[in-house]
Amino acid sequence: MLRLVTVLLTLIIASTGLASTIKAKELIESKVENLLSKMTLEEKIGQLVQYSGTELTGPQGQSINAASLVKKGKIGSFLNITGVENTEAIQKIAVEQSRLKIPLLFGLDVIHGYKTIFPVPLATASSWDPQMLEKIEQISADEATASGVTWAFSPMVNVARDPRWGRVVEGYGEDTYLTTQMALAVVRGLQGDSLANKNTILACIKHYVAYALVQAGREYWTVTVSERDLWTIYMPAYKAAVDAGVGSIMPAFTSVNAVPMTANKKLVHDILKEEWGFNGIAVSDWNAVLELIPHGVAKDAYQCAELAMDAGVDIDMVSGAYDYQLPKLIKDNKITMKQLDDAVTRVLRKKFELGLFKNPYLYNDLSREKETILSNSNLKESRKAAQRSMVLLKNNNNLLPLSKRIKRIAVIGPLADDKNNPLGPWSAKGVHNSAISVLQGIKDSVSAGTQVLYAKGCNINDHNKKMFEAAVNTAYKSDIVIAVVGESADMSGEAASRADIDLPGVQKDLLKALYNTGVPVVAVLMNGRPLTINWTKNYIPAILETWFLGSEAGNAIADVIFGDYNPSGKLPITFPYCVGQIPIYYNYKQSGRPETLANAPLKYESKYIDIPNTPLFPFGYGLSYTTFDYSNITLTKDKIKPNENLTVKIEVTNTGKVKGIETVQLYIHDRVASVTHPVKVLKGFKKIFLKPGNSKIVTFKIKPSDLELYNQEMKKVVEPGIFDVYIGTNSVDVKSASFEVVE
Ligand code: NOJ
Repeated sequence: MLRLVTVLLTLIIASTGLASTIKAKELIESKVENLLSKMTLEEKIGQLVQYSGTELTGPQGQSINAASLVKKGKIGSFLNITGVENTEAIQKIAVEQSRLKIPLLFGLDVIHGYKTIFPVPLATASSWDPQMLEKIEQISADEATASGVTWAFSPMVNVARDPRWGRVVEGYGEDTYLTTQMALAVVRGLQGDSLANKNTILACIKHYVAYALVQAGREYWTVTVSERDLWTIYMPAYKAAVDAGVGSIMPAFTSVNAVPMTANKKLVHDILKEEWGFNGIAVSDWNAVLELIPHGVAKDAYQCAELAMDAGVDIDMVSGAYDYQLPKLIKDNKITMKQLDDAVTRVLRKKFELGLFKNPYLYNDLSREKETILSNSNLKESRKAAQRSMVLLKNNNNLLPLSKRIKRIAVIGPLADDKNNPLGPWSAKGVHNSAISVLQGIKDSVSAGTQVLYAKGCNINDHNKKMFEAAVNTAYKSDIVIAVVGESADMSGEAASRADIDLPGVQKDLLKALYNTGVPVVAVLMNGRPLTINWTKNYIPAILETWFLGSEAGNAIADVIFGDYNPSGKLPITFPYCVGQIPIYYNYKQSGRPETLANAPLKYESKYIDIPNTPLFPFGYGLSYTTFDYSNITLTKDKIKPNENLTVKIEVTNTGKVKGIETVQLYIHDRVASVTHPVKVLKGFKKIFLKPGNSKIVTFKIKPSDLELYNQEMKKVVEPGIFDVYIGTNSVDVKSASFEVVE
């Protein structure tokens, strides 16, 4: 019997192509082993050293000659060297002049495009469209690799619930499930089926883990997280990406529960590497190894390197600690040869997988670089992605879309004629001032008879109203005002925490002045985080959230304004009513005294006495130029065993006048459990396209894993009892049904 099973298994493996994959992997492992056996201590340590650019600064501020270090095999990878000529020049030294001819890796923050810039991650998260994301990440990988880059420090999968933290722009919002789906799309898009293809790139999930919980939203600050939240909310995206074969991971700058991630042996070595079997590279964040000193856990560079190596951090990004301290640490037996070999193996493995040993110049093809980068078809995809990433927040009396034959249109605001900020805070090699501005997009869209007027109104951070008068006069001359307001790109991203997340400067006053003209105003928002735009929500009749949309921003925004594209984005993150509500998110827990919303409010319940509990705009929210009706929610069973599946169906109808895309969202709620549980948790979503009057039945399979929770012993279980299923157009407007899990 056993033999039969073995024979069958062998046959299956052979027929699925698995055999050749396994063989290729074994071959790489033996090549790595062989190479490792020839390496000197110095050469091994070199593989763990990463520097930025070729103008290097050493730990004592001295300048370092990169070429001579590469020649000696003392650098294994670089970041921020790009372009075929630049990467080739230094690769040549590595593979022609160093003793073992080990090729270099070239890393870069390819976060939302290389030169063709796509919408920022928070925007692509608003598309709820993993397929689209995968496609644009393929393009990013294609452009970056065509330019000699072999390693993208992306995706950032930090689930983020505090919009004061500037890096919310780099992630996929507040929800674990949505973040995980998007993270997997990025990893697939960047790495493809095989790293050996010349247009695929090594991906890096970052920043491991829970970085978004920095206290009070203040960048780099300390993180405290419960074991339950860590495993329920923050770890799953990393685990999923590791299971999907992501090639590298970056521990966060921050400490988690008093242990800096760069020295966190439990989370990096024990869980990631041992328990999850991650066989890729753990690369420190920028200078993070030496930052263990200000963290207060190491007294000098020697101890920094010891702690980081011992924790399982394989590559030291730019701090120089490994470079200078590892020889002594090995000699003193503080770090074992086995630990060193494991780290080097991981780096070499990825170099082999990328095909660099076969052909170190695989990514150095000048004509490919010219053809690939910023091609028309890439820009077209950027425009499509931008269309899908906008969220229509308000549209009173169907003010939008506008007719292209409108007589006079005023485009006003500090970001209206801006060609740089739409590129966003992580625009890699995006060319300065190269985005299509909203003004340009509108001019190119309207009919010949339309007059487009422009006034700036104010600068982004102005505290004076000198330019208001001209803006108001321009508004008076027009039939409609498009007010383009928001943040500059550098107000979000790394090191860009804000305590006040309203429109900066006098922009709210500008909106008020425009509103007071009586001419209808459409607010077009550009920003990298949710904003507390209370007044705007109350008074401005139409609001379009565009985030930072990249190279084609203005064209895509015009497509939505004039109805060439019917907006379909949904918020991946809650918009707070005010900063005092933060952290605010849809999957909160009820408390023992939930708000009753009774007519005569009760005092002793979980609420504020000065503001509502509800946000400005909830998670999952976004309007369309059409309307969708949800009806007939049905379950295939009303009772299941803990290990059984069931199916839920709902009918969605386009009840408006134009075709549109809807994102149907599935949430689940465990009514009574052994531990407190969120009011609802996203477990699925589907995008559907419907013509006016048409309906579709949307089906979701609910699996035991969708019902699991960590019980009091931190064991994952499905507990018997009643579960509510909610399906709807956002996290608040839902239809419900329920079923029971019985033993
Ligand atoms: C610091 C950032 O935290 C990280 O996301 C980035 O990849 C590195 N710098 C390299 O630029």
